[in-house]
Amino acid sequence: MSWLSEYYGYINLLAIAGAVATVVITAFVAAIYFKNIKSAKKSGELSSDSWDGIKEYKNPLPLGWAVSFLVLCIWAIWYMLAPAGLPFAYPLGAYSQIGEYNAEVAAYNEKFTAQWQNADEATLIDMGESVFIVQCAPCHGLDKSGIGGKAADLTVWGSKAAVVDSVVHGSKGMNYLLGEMAPMLGGLVSSEGEISLAVEYWSKYVSGTQDASNANEAEYNAWMVCASCHGEDGSGMDAAAPDLRNYGKSAFVTEVLNRGKDGYIGNMPSFNDGRLTDIQKQAVSAYVLSGKQ
Ligand code: HEC
Ligand code: HEC
Repeated sequence: MSWLSEYYGYINLLAIAGAVATVVITAFVAAIYFKNIKSAKKSGELSSDSWDGIKEYKNPLPLGWAVSFLVLCIWAIWYMLAPAGLPFAYPLGAYSQIGEYNAEVAAYNEKFTAQWQNADEATLIDMGESVFIVQCAPCHGLDKSGIGGKAADLTVWGSKAAVVDSVVHGSKGMNYLLGEMAPMLGGLVSSEGEISLAVEYWSKYVSGTQDASNANEAEYNAWMVCASCHGEDGSGMDAAAPDLRNYGKSAFVTEVLNRGKDGYIGNMPSFNDGRLTDIQKQAVSAYVLSGKQ
């Protein structure tokens, strides 16, 4: 019988045995009371209180009742706190359907990871495409263009123009220590020219691999505004702000997936709830940055 299996048997048997015992004991005790109501003569000292003429005996609590009360109290504590598997304990750590589901998902994810961890770029992009269609396209559109401004346009995301856009509009919701980056034009930065100089420096020396020692002075000075939060090397000063060395690369997309974002366009949920495995995040990041649509 399946309910007697390793998983279900213990709990169901206990419950059924308990239910049968309760019914039998209740019937037995009730029968004794009914009998006593008719026949028994009461004796003993009456208390002085009277409720509408009804008085009460000062009999001590019968020993059996007192003992069972105490035993039940102790059992209640044992039942809740004792580790699963011990007798008369609530099987908190024993079988649960949710636990079984989680274990199956974890086992499957492990298998999935083992199978794909060395996948090449083309395989990742293919896998990423199918993840994208299900998880991202409802907001970003099948062509990644953001459905007319409903979400970020991922066909330009990561480009110099997108950095300018972030600086002009600000960026928020990724929960870095510094909080949000306020819209900077008219604030820390006075002209679009200054932004493009900073972005020029970013694209050459921060995101690229060139040696910054012979950088154009104007670009360097403009970048110093950004460096106060992102660090001179763009590394984000220990997660105080995003690591701009990765901006436009798949590591940054994965970062966004883990943190979520509620920017000036709207909210993007975090995908850090187990919906995607690390490999799927890597795959969808690769797909976002690939030219494939
Ligand atoms: C006051 C601190 C501060 C300054 C100054 C600053 N940033 Fe940021 N920046 C941040 C923070 C914090 C974030 C992350 C905000 C978030 O949660 O999305 C960020 C995010 C970004 C992003 C990522 C945007 C996105 O869409 O994910 C880019 C690109 C960026 N900054 C570029 C720059 C550039 C270029 C400059 C200089 C012109 C600059 N930042 C100056 C704090 C700053
Ligand atoms: C519920 C809608 C929604 C879903 C689903 C969604 N996004 Fe987004 N995403 C947004 C919005 C809105 C923004 C723009 C946030 C802002 O205002 O900056 C965004 C921004 C982004 C950005 C740019 C972040 C930045 O730093 O500027 C990337 C990259 C991105 N999404 C990738 C993805 C990927 C990959 C998926 C699927 C795994 C996904 N998104 C699913 C709504 C969504």
